[in-house]
Amino acid sequence: MNLKIAIPTGRLLEEGLNFLRNFDRGLPEPSQVSRRLIFRGDKFEILLVKPLDIPTYVEERITDLGIVGRDIIEEKMNRVAILKRLNFGKCKMVIASYPHWELSKNETIYVSTKYPNVTEKYLKEIWKGVNFKIVKLNGSIELAPLVKISSCIVDLVETGNTLRENNLVIKEVLFESSAYLIANEVSFVWKKSEILEFLDQIEYLEERYDKGNNL
Ligand code: PRP
Repeated sequence: MNLKIAIPTGRLLEEGLNFLRNFDRGLPEPSQVSRRLIFRGDKFEILLVKPLDIPTYVEERITDLGIVGRDIIEEKMNRVAILKRLNFGKCKMVIASYPHWELSKNETIYVSTKYPNVTEKYLKEIWKGVNFKIVKLNGSIELAPLVKISSCIVDLVETGNTLRENNLVIKEVLFESSAYLIANEVSFVWKKSEILEFLDQIEYLEERYDKGNNL
Protein backbone atom coordinates (compact mmCIF):
# COMPACT_ATOMS: atom_id res chain seq x y z
CA MET A 1 0.00 0.00 0.00
CA ASN A 2 1.32 3.40 -0.86
CA LEU A 3 -1.32 5.91 0.13
CA LYS A 4 -1.10 9.57 1.06
CA ILE A 5 -3.49 10.45 3.86
CA ALA A 6 -4.40 13.83 5.35
CA ILE A 7 -5.24 13.73 9.04
CA PRO A 8 -6.58 16.64 11.08
CA THR A 9 -4.62 18.55 13.66
CA GLY A 10 -6.50 19.20 16.91
CA ARG A 11 -8.97 16.88 18.54
CA LEU A 12 -8.92 14.07 15.98
CA LEU A 13 -5.13 13.90 15.64
CA GLU A 14 -4.48 11.39 18.40
CA GLU A 15 -7.36 9.07 17.55
CA GLY A 16 -6.73 9.40 13.81
CA LEU A 17 -3.05 8.55 14.12
CA ASN A 18 -3.65 5.70 16.56
CA PHE A 19 -6.25 4.34 14.15
CA LEU A 20 -3.76 4.38 11.25
CA ARG A 21 -1.05 2.81 13.42
CA ASN A 22 -3.23 -0.32 13.51
CA PHE A 23 -2.29 -0.77 9.84
CA ASP A 24 1.16 0.81 9.73
CA ARG A 25 3.42 0.38 12.75
CA GLY A 26 6.05 2.50 11.02
CA LEU A 27 4.04 5.63 11.85
CA PRO A 28 5.04 7.58 14.97
CA GLU A 29 2.96 7.53 18.12
CA PRO A 30 0.94 10.74 18.66
CA SER A 31 3.30 11.75 21.51
CA GLN A 32 6.24 11.65 19.05
CA VAL A 33 4.58 14.04 16.61
CA SER A 34 6.11 17.46 17.09
CA ARG A 35 5.78 20.27 14.55
CA ARG A 36 6.66 18.13 11.53
CA LEU A 37 3.75 18.26 9.09
CA ILE A 38 4.67 15.38 6.77
CA PHE A 39 5.89 11.97 7.88
CA ARG A 40 6.12 8.49 6.43
CA GLY A 41 5.38 5.08 7.82
CA ASP A 42 5.87 1.79 5.97
CA LYS A 43 2.61 2.07 4.01
CA PHE A 44 1.29 5.57 4.44
CA GLU A 45 2.54 9.09 3.97
CA ILE A 46 0.76 11.39 6.41
CA LEU A 47 0.07 15.11 6.07
CA LEU A 48 -1.09 17.01 9.16
CA VAL A 49 -3.73 19.48 8.00
CA LYS A 50 -6.17 21.90 9.64
CA PRO A 51 -9.56 20.12 9.79
CA LEU A 52 -11.36 22.60 7.51
CA ASP A 53 -8.65 22.18 4.84
CA ILE A 54 -8.80 18.38 4.66
CA PRO A 55 -11.60 18.16 2.05
CA THR A 56 -9.66 20.62 -0.14
CA TYR A 57 -6.45 18.56 0.08
CA VAL A 58 -8.41 15.45 -0.88
CA GLU A 59 -10.41 17.11 -3.66
CA GLU A 60 -7.21 18.57 -5.15
CA ARG A 61 -5.52 15.15 -4.88
CA ILE A 62 -2.70 16.41 -2.72
CA THR A 63 -3.58 13.30 -0.72
CA ASP A 64 -5.48 10.18 -1.82
CA LEU A 65 -7.42 9.91 1.42
CA GLY A 66 -8.42 12.05 4.36
CA ILE A 67 -9.78 11.48 7.84
CA VAL A 68 -12.24 14.19 8.84
CA GLY A 69 -15.42 14.77 10.85
CA ARG A 70 -18.87 14.80 9.28
CA ASP A 71 -19.19 18.40 10.49
CA ILE A 72 -16.40 19.46 8.13
CA ILE A 73 -17.64 17.34 5.21
CA GLU A 74 -21.07 18.97 5.49
CA GLU A 75 -19.64 22.46 5.93
CA LYS A 76 -17.19 22.34 3.04
CA MET A 77 -19.26 20.38 0.48
CA ASN A 78 -16.18 19.48 -1.58
CA ARG A 79 -16.28 16.91 -4.33
CA VAL A 80 -14.85 13.87 -2.56
CA ALA A 81 -15.87 10.23 -2.21
CA ILE A 82 -17.10 9.32 1.26
CA LEU A 83 -15.75 5.82 1.87
CA LYS A 84 -16.50 4.88 5.42
CA ARG A 85 -17.80 6.07 8.75
CA LEU A 86 -15.14 5.43 11.39
CA ASN A 87 -15.63 4.45 14.98
CA PHE A 88 -14.13 7.49 16.67
CA GLY A 89 -14.48 11.25 16.86
CA LYS A 90 -18.07 10.95 18.04
CA CYS A 91 -19.85 14.19 18.84
CA LYS A 92 -23.05 16.12 18.02
CA MET A 93 -23.83 19.26 16.07
CA VAL A 94 -26.33 21.16 18.18
CA ILE A 95 -28.22 24.38 18.69
CA ALA A 96 -27.41 25.61 22.21
CA SER A 97 -28.43 28.57 24.33
CA TYR A 98 -29.41 29.57 27.86
CA PRO A 99 -31.87 27.19 29.56
CA HIS A 100 -34.64 29.82 29.55
CA TRP A 101 -34.15 30.89 25.92
CA GLU A 102 -37.06 30.25 23.55
CA LEU A 103 -37.27 30.62 19.81
CA SER A 104 -39.41 33.55 18.72
CA LYS A 105 -40.83 34.29 15.28
CA ASN A 106 -41.26 37.99 16.10
CA GLU A 107 -37.59 38.98 16.14
CA THR A 108 -34.39 38.35 14.22
CA ILE A 109 -32.44 35.56 15.90
CA TYR A 110 -28.67 35.95 15.83
CA VAL A 111 -26.82 32.63 15.67
CA SER A 112 -23.06 32.37 16.18
CA THR A 113 -21.16 29.50 14.61
CA LYS A 114 -17.97 28.27 12.96
CA TYR A 115 -20.25 26.41 10.52
CA PRO A 116 -22.23 28.97 8.45
CA ASN A 117 -23.20 26.53 5.66
CA VAL A 118 -24.37 23.81 8.03
CA THR A 119 -26.26 26.41 10.08
CA GLU A 120 -27.96 27.92 7.03
CA LYS A 121 -28.97 24.51 5.69
CA TYR A 122 -30.35 23.01 8.90
CA LEU A 123 -32.00 26.13 10.37
CA LYS A 124 -33.79 26.86 7.09
CA GLU A 125 -35.32 23.40 7.39
CA ILE A 126 -36.22 23.31 11.06
CA TRP A 127 -36.89 26.98 11.77
CA LYS A 128 -39.45 27.62 9.04
CA GLY A 129 -40.75 31.19 9.21
CA VAL A 130 -38.01 32.35 11.58
CA ASN A 131 -35.81 35.29 10.66
CA PHE A 132 -32.23 34.46 11.54
CA LYS A 133 -28.82 35.98 10.91
CA ILE A 134 -25.59 33.99 11.10
CA VAL A 135 -22.62 35.51 12.90
CA LYS A 136 -19.53 33.62 11.72
CA LEU A 137 -16.85 33.26 14.39
CA ASN A 138 -13.69 31.17 14.38
CA GLY A 139 -13.72 29.60 17.85
CA SER A 140 -14.80 29.91 21.49
CA ILE A 141 -18.35 29.99 20.13
CA GLU A 142 -19.85 29.50 23.59
CA LEU A 143 -18.67 33.00 24.45
CA ALA A 144 -21.10 34.59 21.99
CA PRO A 145 -24.31 34.30 24.08
CA LEU A 146 -22.42 35.39 27.21
CA VAL A 147 -21.40 38.68 25.61
CA LYS A 148 -24.69 38.99 23.70
CA ILE A 149 -23.23 38.67 20.22
CA SER A 150 -26.05 36.21 19.62
CA SER A 151 -28.80 34.50 21.56
CA CYS A 152 -27.87 31.00 20.48
CA ILE A 153 -25.08 29.03 18.81
CA VAL A 154 -24.66 26.11 16.43
CA ASP A 155 -21.60 24.12 17.46
CA LEU A 156 -20.13 20.71 18.19
CA VAL A 157 -20.57 19.11 21.57
CA GLU A 158 -18.40 16.22 22.65
CA THR A 159 -18.26 15.91 26.45
CA GLY A 160 -20.65 18.84 27.06
CA ASN A 161 -18.13 20.45 29.44
CA THR A 162 -17.80 23.71 27.52
CA LEU A 163 -21.58 24.20 27.44
CA ARG A 164 -21.95 23.32 31.15
CA GLU A 165 -19.15 25.61 32.27
CA ASN A 166 -20.77 28.48 30.41
CA ASN A 167 -24.32 27.78 31.65
CA LEU A 168 -25.60 26.81 28.23
CA VAL A 169 -27.75 23.80 27.29
CA ILE A 170 -28.54 21.83 24.14
CA LYS A 171 -31.79 23.01 22.55
CA GLU A 172 -31.78 20.71 19.54
CA VAL A 173 -29.46 18.11 17.99
CA LEU A 174 -28.91 18.74 14.26
CA PHE A 175 -26.90 15.55 13.60
CA GLU A 176 -24.55 13.04 15.17
CA SER A 177 -21.03 13.39 13.87
CA SER A 178 -18.00 11.09 13.81
CA ALA A 179 -14.82 10.74 11.79
CA TYR A 180 -15.08 9.56 8.18
CA LEU A 181 -12.61 8.24 5.65
CA ILE A 182 -12.87 10.23 2.43
CA ALA A 183 -11.08 9.74 -0.89
CA ASN A 184 -10.13 11.68 -3.96
CA GLU A 185 -12.37 10.45 -6.79
CA VAL A 186 -9.45 9.97 -9.20
CA SER A 187 -7.37 8.14 -6.59
CA PHE A 188 -10.34 5.87 -6.02
CA VAL A 189 -10.05 4.79 -9.65
CA TRP A 190 -6.24 4.76 -10.01
CA LYS A 191 -5.46 3.29 -6.61
CA LYS A 192 -8.63 1.27 -6.30
CA SER A 193 -7.02 -2.03 -5.29
CA GLU A 194 -4.91 -0.38 -2.57
CA ILE A 195 -7.87 1.56 -1.22
CA LEU A 196 -10.10 -1.53 -1.25
CA GLU A 197 -7.37 -3.51 0.52
CA PHE A 198 -7.22 -0.80 3.17
CA LEU A 199 -11.03 -0.84 3.57
CA ASP A 200 -10.92 -4.65 3.97
CA GLN A 201 -8.32 -4.28 6.69
CA ILE A 202 -10.46 -1.68 8.47
CA GLU A 203 -13.45 -3.99 8.37
CA TYR A 204 -11.40 -6.91 9.66
CA LEU A 205 -10.17 -4.73 12.53
CA GLU A 206 -13.73 -3.61 13.34
CA GLU A 207 -14.93 -7.25 13.42
CA ARG A 208 -12.17 -8.17 15.86
CA TYR A 209 -13.04 -5.12 17.93
CA ASP A 210 -16.73 -6.08 17.98
CA LYS A 211 -15.74 -9.55 19.22
CA GLY A 212 -13.99 -7.89 22.15
CA ASN A 213 -10.43 -8.78 21.20
CA ASN A 214 -7.72 -6.30 22.00
CA LEU A 215 -6.64 -4.18 19.07
C1 PRP B 1 -15.00 22.50 20.14
C2 PRP B 1 -16.42 23.00 19.97
C3 PRP B 1 -16.81 23.35 21.38
C4 PRP B 1 -16.05 22.32 22.21
C5 PRP B 1 -16.99 21.22 22.62
O1 PRP B 1 -14.15 23.58 20.18
O2 PRP B 1 -16.47 24.08 19.07
O3 PRP B 1 -16.39 24.65 21.73
O4 PRP B 1 -15.02 21.81 21.38
O5 PRP B 1 -16.33 20.21 23.34
P1 PRP B 1 -16.87 19.66 24.72
O6 PRP B 1 -18.32 19.34 24.55
O7 PRP B 1 -16.04 18.42 24.96
O8 PRP B 1 -16.64 20.70 25.77
P2 PRP B 1 -12.57 23.40 20.17
O9 PRP B 1 -12.08 22.82 21.45
O10 PRP B 1 -12.20 22.61 18.96
O11 PRP B 1 -12.00 24.87 20.11
P3 PRP B 1 -12.50 26.22 19.45
O12 PRP B 1 -13.53 26.77 20.35
O13 PRP B 1 -11.30 27.07 19.39
O14 PRP B 1 -13.04 25.92 18.09
